[in-house]
Amino acid sequence: MRSYVIDGPCRLSGEVRISGAKNSTLKLMVAALMVPGEVVLERVPQITDVDLMAEVLEQLGASVQRDGSRLVIDSSGDLCEEAPYELVTKMRASIQVLGPLLARLGHARVAMPGGDAIGSRPIDMHLRGLERMGARFTTEHGYVEGASERLQGVNTLLEFPSVGATENILMAAVLAQGRSVIENAAREPEIQDLCAFLNKAGAHIEGVGTPTIIIDGVDELQPAKHAIVPDRIEAGTYAIAAVATQGDVTLVDCEPAHLELPLMKLEDAGAQIDRGDGRVRVRMEGRPTTLDLVTLPFPGFPTDLQPPMMVLLSQARGSSILTENVFESRFLFVDELNRMGAHIRVEGHHAVIRGVEQLSGAPVRSPDIRAGAALVLGGLCADGRTEVYDAGHIERGYERFVDKLSGLGAGVKLEPARY
Ligand code: EPU
Repeated sequence: MRSYVIDGPCRLSGEVRISGAKNSTLKLMVAALMVPGEVVLERVPQITDVDLMAEVLEQLGASVQRDGSRLVIDSSGDLCEEAPYELVTKMRASIQVLGPLLARLGHARVAMPGGDAIGSRPIDMHLRGLERMGARFTTEHGYVEGASERLQGVNTLLEFPSVGATENILMAAVLAQGRSVIENAAREPEIQDLCAFLNKAGAHIEGVGTPTIIIDGVDELQPAKHAIVPDRIEAGTYAIAAVATQGDVTLVDCEPAHLELPLMKLEDAGAQIDRGDGRVRVRMEGRPTTLDLVTLPFPGFPTDLQPPMMVLLSQARGSSILTENVFESRFLFVDELNRMGAHIRVEGHHAVIRGVEQLSGAPVRSPDIRAGAALVLGGLCADGRTEVYDAGHIERGYERFVDKLSGLGAGVKLEPARY
Protein backbone atom coordinates (compact mmCIF):
# COMPACT_ATOMS: atom_id res chain seq x y z
CA MET A 1 0.00 0.00 0.00
CA ARG A 2 1.16 3.51 -0.74
CA SER A 3 0.39 6.87 0.77
CA TYR A 4 0.38 10.44 -0.49
CA VAL A 5 2.86 12.59 1.40
CA ILE A 6 2.19 16.31 1.21
CA ASP A 7 4.32 19.09 2.60
CA GLY A 8 2.16 22.15 3.06
CA PRO A 9 1.07 24.77 2.89
CA CYS A 10 1.47 25.57 -0.78
CA ARG A 11 -0.16 27.82 -3.32
CA LEU A 12 -1.16 26.13 -6.60
CA SER A 13 -0.44 28.01 -9.80
CA GLY A 14 -0.15 27.17 -13.49
CA GLU A 15 -2.10 25.11 -16.01
CA VAL A 16 -3.58 21.64 -15.60
CA ARG A 17 -4.95 19.51 -18.43
CA ILE A 18 -8.22 17.75 -17.63
CA SER A 19 -8.58 14.04 -18.52
CA GLY A 20 -11.56 12.18 -19.98
CA ALA A 21 -14.33 11.49 -17.47
CA LYS A 22 -14.05 8.32 -15.39
CA ASN A 23 -17.80 7.92 -15.03
CA SER A 24 -18.35 8.31 -18.75
CA THR A 25 -15.52 5.98 -19.77
CA LEU A 26 -16.79 3.15 -17.55
CA LYS A 27 -20.29 3.27 -19.07
CA LEU A 28 -19.03 3.61 -22.64
CA MET A 29 -16.87 0.53 -22.09
CA VAL A 30 -19.96 -1.35 -20.92
CA ALA A 31 -22.00 -0.05 -23.87
CA ALA A 32 -19.36 -1.53 -26.19
CA LEU A 33 -20.71 -4.96 -25.14
CA MET A 34 -23.82 -4.18 -27.19
CA VAL A 35 -21.85 -3.61 -30.39
CA PRO A 36 -20.90 -6.76 -32.32
CA GLY A 37 -17.71 -5.18 -33.69
CA GLU A 38 -14.97 -2.73 -32.80
CA VAL A 39 -15.53 0.31 -30.61
CA VAL A 40 -12.75 2.88 -30.37
CA LEU A 41 -12.70 5.18 -27.35
CA GLU A 42 -10.35 8.14 -27.21
CA ARG A 43 -9.27 10.33 -24.33
CA VAL A 44 -9.57 7.39 -21.92
CA PRO A 45 -8.01 8.23 -18.54
CA GLN A 46 -5.25 5.98 -17.15
CA ILE A 47 -6.88 5.11 -13.85
CA THR A 48 -7.34 1.80 -12.09
CA ASP A 49 -11.15 1.75 -12.45
CA VAL A 50 -10.67 1.60 -16.23
CA ASP A 51 -8.26 -1.34 -15.80
CA LEU A 52 -10.84 -3.09 -13.63
CA MET A 53 -13.62 -2.49 -16.15
CA ALA A 54 -11.33 -3.88 -18.87
CA GLU A 55 -11.00 -7.05 -16.74
CA VAL A 56 -14.80 -7.25 -16.43
CA LEU A 57 -15.22 -6.97 -20.21
CA GLU A 58 -12.52 -9.58 -20.87
CA GLN A 59 -14.16 -11.91 -18.36
CA LEU A 60 -17.38 -11.49 -20.35
CA GLY A 61 -15.62 -12.46 -23.61
CA ALA A 62 -14.73 -9.09 -25.19
CA SER A 63 -11.21 -8.18 -26.24
CA VAL A 64 -9.80 -4.91 -24.88
CA GLN A 65 -6.64 -3.28 -26.20
CA ARG A 66 -5.10 -0.14 -24.82
CA ASP A 67 -2.74 2.21 -26.59
CA GLY A 68 -2.13 5.30 -24.45
CA SER A 69 -5.40 7.15 -24.10
CA ARG A 70 -7.06 5.04 -26.83
CA LEU A 71 -9.03 1.90 -26.05
CA VAL A 72 -10.24 -0.59 -28.65
CA ILE A 73 -12.99 -2.96 -27.50
CA ASP A 74 -14.17 -5.81 -29.69
CA SER A 75 -17.29 -7.66 -28.58
CA SER A 76 -17.90 -9.51 -31.86
CA GLY A 77 -17.09 -12.94 -30.39
CA ASP A 78 -19.28 -15.08 -28.15
CA LEU A 79 -20.02 -13.28 -24.91
CA CYS A 80 -20.52 -14.99 -21.58
CA GLU A 81 -23.26 -13.87 -19.20
CA GLU A 82 -21.56 -13.75 -15.81
CA ALA A 83 -19.91 -10.80 -14.02
CA PRO A 84 -18.26 -12.43 -10.98
CA TYR A 85 -18.20 -11.32 -7.35
CA GLU A 86 -14.42 -10.66 -7.25
CA LEU A 87 -14.75 -7.95 -9.87
CA VAL A 88 -18.15 -6.46 -9.03
CA THR A 89 -17.20 -5.91 -5.37
CA LYS A 90 -14.01 -4.13 -6.46
CA MET A 91 -15.99 -1.79 -8.69
CA ARG A 92 -19.67 -1.14 -8.27
CA ALA A 93 -20.08 0.26 -11.78
CA SER A 94 -19.86 -3.37 -13.03
CA ILE A 95 -23.60 -3.62 -12.32
CA GLN A 96 -24.07 -1.56 -15.48
CA VAL A 97 -23.42 -4.69 -17.59
CA LEU A 98 -26.88 -5.99 -16.59
CA GLY A 99 -28.93 -4.01 -19.15
CA PRO A 100 -26.51 -4.48 -22.08
CA LEU A 101 -26.12 -8.25 -21.48
CA LEU A 102 -29.87 -8.78 -21.16
CA ALA A 103 -30.45 -6.78 -24.33
CA ARG A 104 -27.79 -8.60 -26.34
CA LEU A 105 -27.86 -12.16 -24.91
CA GLY A 106 -31.27 -12.43 -23.24
CA HIS A 107 -29.64 -13.46 -19.96
CA ALA A 108 -27.19 -12.10 -17.42
CA ARG A 109 -25.78 -13.16 -14.05
CA VAL A 110 -24.17 -10.38 -12.06
CA ALA A 111 -22.94 -10.39 -8.46
CA MET A 112 -24.96 -8.06 -6.21
CA PRO A 113 -22.67 -5.10 -5.58
CA GLY A 114 -23.51 -4.56 -1.89
CA GLY A 115 -22.78 -1.33 -0.01
CA ASP A 116 -19.57 0.67 0.03
CA ALA A 117 -17.84 3.42 1.95
CA ILE A 118 -20.28 6.10 0.78
CA GLY A 119 -23.42 4.23 1.82
CA SER A 120 -25.88 1.49 1.03
CA ARG A 121 -26.42 1.58 -2.72
CA PRO A 122 -29.44 -0.49 -3.77
CA ILE A 123 -30.21 -1.40 -7.39
CA ASP A 124 -34.00 -1.63 -7.02
CA MET A 125 -34.67 1.06 -9.66
CA HIS A 126 -32.39 -0.71 -12.18
CA LEU A 127 -34.23 -4.00 -11.69
CA ARG A 128 -37.73 -2.50 -11.68
CA GLY A 129 -37.05 -0.67 -14.94
CA LEU A 130 -35.71 -3.77 -16.67
CA GLU A 131 -38.59 -5.90 -15.30
CA ARG A 132 -41.08 -3.52 -16.84
CA MET A 133 -39.38 -4.22 -20.17
CA GLY A 134 -39.99 -7.95 -19.74
CA ALA A 135 -36.93 -9.19 -17.84
CA ARG A 136 -37.41 -11.68 -14.99
CA PHE A 137 -34.98 -11.64 -12.07
CA THR A 138 -34.05 -14.01 -9.29
CA THR A 139 -31.51 -13.30 -6.59
CA GLU A 140 -29.69 -16.26 -5.13
CA HIS A 141 -26.31 -16.86 -3.51
CA GLY A 142 -25.39 -13.19 -3.85
CA TYR A 143 -26.08 -13.04 -7.57
CA VAL A 144 -28.86 -11.40 -9.50
CA GLU A 145 -29.83 -13.49 -12.47
CA GLY A 146 -31.95 -12.06 -15.27
CA ALA A 147 -33.59 -13.61 -18.32
CA SER A 148 -35.79 -12.23 -21.05
CA GLU A 149 -37.10 -12.68 -24.56
CA ARG A 150 -36.48 -9.58 -26.64
CA LEU A 151 -37.04 -6.65 -24.29
CA GLN A 152 -40.06 -4.45 -25.02
CA GLY A 153 -40.06 -0.66 -25.03
CA VAL A 154 -42.12 0.85 -22.16
CA ASN A 155 -42.57 4.11 -20.24
CA THR A 156 -40.63 4.24 -16.98
CA LEU A 157 -40.92 6.90 -14.32
CA LEU A 158 -37.90 6.91 -12.01
CA GLU A 159 -38.64 7.85 -8.41
CA PHE A 160 -35.21 9.53 -8.23
CA PRO A 161 -33.01 10.55 -11.19
CA SER A 162 -30.49 7.77 -10.51
CA VAL A 163 -27.46 7.87 -12.81
CA GLY A 164 -26.95 4.10 -12.81
CA ALA A 165 -30.64 3.19 -13.24
CA THR A 166 -31.03 5.69 -16.10
CA GLU A 167 -27.98 4.18 -17.84
CA ASN A 168 -28.99 0.54 -17.36
CA ILE A 169 -32.54 1.10 -18.60
CA LEU A 170 -31.37 3.35 -21.44
CA MET A 171 -28.84 0.82 -22.73
CA ALA A 172 -31.39 -2.01 -22.58
CA ALA A 173 -33.97 0.18 -24.37
CA VAL A 174 -31.60 0.84 -27.27
CA LEU A 175 -31.91 -2.81 -28.40
CA ALA A 176 -35.52 -3.31 -27.23
CA GLN A 177 -38.53 -3.59 -29.51
CA GLY A 178 -40.42 -0.33 -29.89
CA ARG A 179 -40.33 2.98 -28.06
CA SER A 180 -39.19 3.51 -24.47
CA VAL A 181 -39.56 6.71 -22.49
CA ILE A 182 -37.60 7.33 -19.30
CA GLU A 183 -39.12 10.09 -17.19
CA ASN A 184 -37.30 11.84 -14.36
CA ALA A 185 -34.12 10.57 -16.02
CA ALA A 186 -30.69 11.65 -14.77
CA ARG A 187 -29.16 14.45 -16.85
CA GLU A 188 -25.48 14.19 -15.92
CA PRO A 189 -23.04 15.08 -18.74
CA GLU A 190 -21.73 11.49 -18.60
CA ILE A 191 -25.21 10.24 -19.55
CA GLN A 192 -25.32 12.74 -22.39
CA ASP A 193 -21.94 11.36 -23.51
CA LEU A 194 -23.26 7.80 -23.38
CA CYS A 195 -26.25 8.80 -25.53
CA ALA A 196 -23.98 10.61 -28.01
CA PHE A 197 -21.88 7.46 -28.40
CA LEU A 198 -24.92 5.18 -28.74
CA ASN A 199 -26.45 7.47 -31.38
CA LYS A 200 -23.16 7.32 -33.34
CA ALA A 201 -23.42 3.52 -33.16
CA GLY A 202 -26.90 3.63 -34.71
CA ALA A 203 -29.22 4.06 -31.70
CA HIS A 204 -32.20 6.43 -31.84
CA ILE A 205 -32.19 8.47 -28.65
CA GLU A 206 -33.87 11.85 -28.22
CA GLY A 207 -34.29 14.22 -25.29
CA VAL A 208 -30.63 13.78 -24.34
CA GLY A 209 -29.78 16.04 -21.40
CA THR A 210 -33.45 16.51 -20.45
CA PRO A 211 -35.48 14.65 -17.79
CA THR A 212 -37.41 12.81 -20.53
CA ILE A 213 -35.33 10.50 -22.70
CA ILE A 214 -37.06 8.82 -25.66
CA ILE A 215 -35.49 5.74 -27.18
CA ASP A 216 -36.67 3.96 -30.33
CA GLY A 217 -35.22 0.46 -30.23
CA VAL A 218 -33.05 -0.85 -33.09
CA ASP A 219 -32.09 -4.43 -34.04
CA GLU A 220 -28.34 -3.99 -33.96
CA LEU A 221 -25.62 -1.41 -33.28
CA GLN A 222 -22.60 -0.74 -35.50
CA PRO A 223 -18.93 -0.08 -34.71
CA ALA A 224 -18.26 3.51 -33.68
CA LYS A 225 -15.52 5.82 -32.46
CA HIS A 226 -15.95 8.36 -29.68
CA ALA A 227 -13.84 10.78 -27.62
CA ILE A 228 -14.76 10.88 -23.93
CA VAL A 229 -16.17 14.11 -22.45
CA PRO A 230 -13.84 16.02 -20.05
CA ASP A 231 -14.01 14.96 -16.41
CA ARG A 232 -16.02 17.67 -14.64
CA ILE A 233 -15.27 16.18 -11.22
CA GLU A 234 -11.52 16.18 -11.83
CA ALA A 235 -11.79 19.75 -13.16
CA GLY A 236 -13.89 20.81 -10.17
CA THR A 237 -11.39 19.25 -7.76
CA TYR A 238 -8.52 21.34 -9.23
CA ALA A 239 -10.72 24.46 -9.28
CA ILE A 240 -11.55 24.01 -5.59
CA ALA A 241 -7.89 23.25 -4.84
CA ALA A 242 -6.92 26.53 -6.53
CA VAL A 243 -9.30 28.47 -4.29
CA ALA A 244 -8.43 26.56 -1.12
CA THR A 245 -4.70 27.23 -1.62
CA GLN A 246 -5.36 30.88 -2.60
CA GLY A 247 -3.75 30.15 -5.95
CA ASP A 248 -4.12 30.87 -9.66
CA VAL A 249 -4.87 27.81 -11.80
CA THR A 250 -6.08 27.46 -15.38
CA LEU A 251 -8.00 24.30 -16.27
CA VAL A 252 -7.29 23.34 -19.87
CA ASP A 253 -9.40 21.00 -22.06
CA CYS A 254 -12.40 21.18 -19.76
CA GLU A 255 -16.08 21.94 -20.42
CA PRO A 256 -17.02 25.06 -18.41
CA ALA A 257 -20.76 24.50 -19.03
CA HIS A 258 -20.60 21.25 -17.03
CA LEU A 259 -19.10 23.07 -14.06
CA GLU A 260 -21.47 26.00 -13.83
CA LEU A 261 -22.81 25.54 -10.30
CA PRO A 262 -19.44 24.66 -8.69
CA LEU A 263 -17.87 27.71 -10.38
CA MET A 264 -20.75 29.92 -9.22
CA LYS A 265 -20.23 28.70 -5.66
CA LEU A 266 -16.51 29.40 -5.86
CA GLU A 267 -17.33 32.93 -7.03
CA ASP A 268 -19.66 33.29 -4.04
CA ALA A 269 -16.74 32.23 -1.84
CA GLY A 270 -14.65 35.08 -3.25
CA ALA A 271 -12.82 33.55 -6.22
CA GLN A 272 -12.36 35.27 -9.55
CA ILE A 273 -13.34 32.96 -12.41
CA ASP A 274 -12.65 33.58 -16.11
CA ARG A 275 -14.48 31.20 -18.43
CA GLY A 276 -13.04 30.63 -21.92
CA ASP A 277 -13.41 28.13 -24.73
CA GLY A 278 -12.50 24.81 -23.10
CA ARG A 279 -10.59 26.70 -20.38
CA VAL A 280 -11.32 28.16 -16.97
CA ARG A 281 -8.97 30.35 -14.92
CA VAL A 282 -9.55 30.29 -11.15
CA ARG A 283 -7.89 32.89 -8.91
CA MET A 284 -8.24 33.52 -5.21
CA GLU A 285 -6.80 35.90 -2.68
CA GLY A 286 -7.41 35.49 1.05
CA ARG A 287 -9.66 33.10 2.95
CA PRO A 288 -13.03 32.11 1.46
CA THR A 289 -16.29 33.53 2.76
CA THR A 290 -18.86 31.09 4.12
CA LEU A 291 -21.34 29.25 1.91
CA ASP A 292 -24.40 27.08 2.35
CA LEU A 293 -24.36 24.20 -0.08
CA VAL A 294 -26.73 21.36 -0.97
CA THR A 295 -25.76 18.38 -3.16
CA LEU A 296 -28.30 17.37 -5.81
CA PRO A 297 -28.42 15.47 -9.12
CA PHE A 298 -27.09 17.44 -12.14
CA PRO A 299 -27.38 20.36 -12.77
CA GLY A 300 -27.31 20.68 -8.96
CA PHE A 301 -24.07 20.72 -6.98
CA PRO A 302 -22.39 17.30 -7.51
CA THR A 303 -22.01 15.01 -4.51
CA ASP A 304 -18.58 14.01 -5.88
CA LEU A 305 -17.33 17.56 -5.21
CA GLN A 306 -18.80 17.75 -1.71
CA PRO A 307 -15.63 16.41 0.03
CA PRO A 308 -13.20 18.91 -1.59
CA MET A 309 -15.71 21.69 -0.94
CA MET A 310 -15.79 20.66 2.73
CA VAL A 311 -12.01 21.17 2.85
CA LEU A 312 -12.40 24.62 1.32
CA LEU A 313 -15.13 25.63 3.77
CA SER A 314 -13.14 24.28 6.72
CA GLN A 315 -10.95 27.38 6.22
CA ALA A 316 -13.73 29.92 5.56
CA ARG A 317 -14.17 33.09 7.60
CA GLY A 318 -17.19 31.86 9.60
CA SER A 319 -19.60 28.90 9.63
CA SER A 320 -21.11 27.08 6.66
CA ILE A 321 -23.73 24.36 6.32
CA LEU A 322 -23.30 21.59 3.82
CA THR A 323 -26.21 19.22 3.12
CA GLU A 324 -25.58 15.84 1.45
CA ASN A 325 -28.69 14.56 -0.35
CA VAL A 326 -27.32 11.84 -2.61
CA PHE A 327 -25.19 9.39 -0.57
CA GLU A 328 -26.00 8.74 3.09
CA SER A 329 -22.45 8.03 4.32
CA ARG A 330 -20.46 10.58 2.42
CA PHE A 331 -19.46 12.41 5.60
CA LEU A 332 -17.36 9.48 6.86
CA PHE A 333 -14.11 11.30 6.12
CA VAL A 334 -15.05 14.25 8.35
CA ASP A 335 -13.35 12.66 11.38
CA GLU A 336 -10.14 12.49 9.35
CA LEU A 337 -10.43 16.15 8.40
CA ASN A 338 -11.05 17.02 12.04
CA ARG A 339 -7.75 15.23 12.83
CA MET A 340 -6.20 17.96 10.67
CA GLY A 341 -7.66 20.69 12.86
CA ALA A 342 -10.99 21.29 11.07
CA HIS A 343 -14.10 22.02 13.18
CA ILE A 344 -16.91 20.06 11.57
CA ARG A 345 -19.97 18.62 13.28
CA VAL A 346 -22.21 16.20 11.41
CA GLU A 347 -25.91 15.98 12.18
CA GLY A 348 -27.71 13.49 9.94
CA HIS A 349 -27.15 14.63 6.40
CA HIS A 350 -26.02 18.13 7.40
CA ALA A 351 -22.49 19.19 8.28
CA VAL A 352 -21.86 22.39 10.21
CA ILE A 353 -18.38 23.64 9.36
CA ARG A 354 -16.75 26.30 11.53
CA GLY A 355 -13.86 27.75 9.54
CA VAL A 356 -10.36 27.76 11.04
CA GLU A 357 -7.45 29.90 9.95
CA GLN A 358 -5.21 26.99 8.99
CA LEU A 359 -5.37 23.20 8.95
CA SER A 360 -2.52 21.26 10.48
CA GLY A 361 -0.78 18.35 8.72
CA ALA A 362 -1.54 14.87 10.13
CA PRO A 363 -1.68 11.20 9.11
CA VAL A 364 -5.16 10.41 7.74
CA ARG A 365 -6.88 7.57 5.90
CA SER A 366 -8.74 7.87 2.60
CA PRO A 367 -12.10 6.03 2.69
CA ASP A 368 -12.99 6.50 -1.02
CA ILE A 369 -11.93 8.28 -4.20
CA ARG A 370 -13.38 11.71 -3.60
CA ALA A 371 -12.72 11.90 0.14
CA GLY A 372 -9.14 10.78 -0.59
CA ALA A 373 -8.60 13.58 -3.08
CA ALA A 374 -10.14 16.01 -0.59
CA LEU A 375 -7.73 14.92 2.15
CA VAL A 376 -4.78 15.49 -0.21
CA LEU A 377 -6.23 18.94 -0.83
CA GLY A 378 -6.41 19.43 2.95
CA GLY A 379 -2.70 18.53 3.06
CA LEU A 380 -1.93 21.22 0.46
CA CYS A 381 -3.56 23.84 2.70
CA ALA A 382 -2.22 22.50 6.00
CA ASP A 383 0.85 23.51 7.87
CA GLY A 384 3.46 20.69 7.98
CA ARG A 385 3.36 17.13 6.69
CA THR A 386 0.18 15.19 5.85
CA GLU A 387 0.19 11.52 4.94
CA VAL A 388 -2.94 10.18 3.22
CA TYR A 389 -3.10 6.39 3.55
CA ASP A 390 -5.00 4.00 1.26
CA ALA A 391 -3.85 5.94 -1.80
CA GLY A 392 -5.31 3.23 -4.03
CA HIS A 393 -8.73 4.81 -3.75
CA ILE A 394 -7.48 8.04 -5.31
CA GLU A 395 -5.77 6.23 -8.18
CA ARG A 396 -9.14 4.72 -9.12
CA GLY A 397 -10.36 8.09 -10.32
CA TYR A 398 -7.64 10.72 -10.75
CA GLU A 399 -5.19 10.34 -13.62
CA ARG A 400 -1.56 11.20 -12.70
CA PHE A 401 -2.71 13.04 -9.58
CA VAL A 402 0.79 13.51 -8.17
CA ASP A 403 2.24 14.69 -11.52
CA LYS A 404 -0.59 17.14 -12.13
CA LEU A 405 -0.40 18.60 -8.60
CA SER A 406 3.41 18.77 -8.76
CA GLY A 407 3.08 20.61 -12.09
CA LEU A 408 1.07 23.23 -10.20
CA GLY A 409 3.81 23.61 -7.60
CA ALA A 410 2.51 21.25 -4.88
CA GLY A 411 4.97 19.42 -2.64
CA VAL A 412 3.38 15.97 -3.00
CA LYS A 413 4.74 12.48 -3.60
CA LEU A 414 3.66 8.84 -3.41
CA GLU A 415 5.59 6.69 -0.93
CA PRO A 416 5.24 3.21 0.55
CA ALA A 417 2.78 3.49 3.44
CA ARG A 418 4.30 3.46 6.93
CA TYR A 419 1.14 2.07 8.58
N1 EPU B 1 -30.36 4.51 -5.56
C1 EPU B 1 -31.36 3.71 -5.10
N2 EPU B 1 -31.80 2.69 -5.90
C2 EPU B 1 -31.28 2.46 -7.15
C3 EPU B 1 -30.24 3.31 -7.61
C4 EPU B 1 -29.80 4.33 -6.79
O1 EPU B 1 -31.84 3.88 -3.99
O2 EPU B 1 -31.72 1.53 -7.83
C5 EPU B 1 -29.86 5.60 -4.70
C6 EPU B 1 -28.39 5.40 -4.30
O3 EPU B 1 -28.30 4.55 -3.18
C7 EPU B 1 -27.94 6.80 -4.02
C8 EPU B 1 -28.73 7.61 -5.03
O4 EPU B 1 -29.83 6.81 -5.43
O5 EPU B 1 -28.28 7.17 -2.72
C9 EPU B 1 -27.93 8.06 -6.23
O6 EPU B 1 -27.41 6.96 -6.92
P1 EPU B 1 -27.11 6.97 -8.47
O7 EPU B 1 -27.69 5.74 -9.06
O8 EPU B 1 -27.49 8.28 -9.05
O9 EPU B 1 -25.51 6.89 -8.46
P2 EPU B 1 -24.60 5.76 -9.08
O10 EPU B 1 -24.99 5.46 -10.48
O11 EPU B 1 -24.48 4.63 -8.12
C10 EPU B 1 -22.93 7.50 -10.09
C11 EPU B 1 -21.44 7.75 -10.05
C12 EPU B 1 -21.06 8.29 -8.68
C13 EPU B 1 -21.81 9.59 -8.47
C14 EPU B 1 -23.34 9.35 -8.58
C15 EPU B 1 -24.17 10.61 -8.46
C16 EPU B 1 -20.49 6.12 -11.52
C17 EPU B 1 -19.68 4.90 -11.70
N3 EPU B 1 -20.73 6.50 -10.28
O12 EPU B 1 -23.21 6.54 -9.09
O13 EPU B 1 -19.68 8.55 -8.73
O14 EPU B 1 -21.51 10.08 -7.18
O15 EPU B 1 -23.62 8.74 -9.86
O16 EPU B 1 -23.76 11.54 -9.39
O17 EPU B 1 -20.91 6.73 -12.49
C18 EPU B 1 -17.46 8.68 -7.89
O18 EPU B 1 -17.09 8.88 -9.06
O19 EPU B 1 -16.70 8.80 -6.91
C19 EPU B 1 -18.86 8.28 -7.65
C20 EPU B 1 -19.27 7.75 -6.50
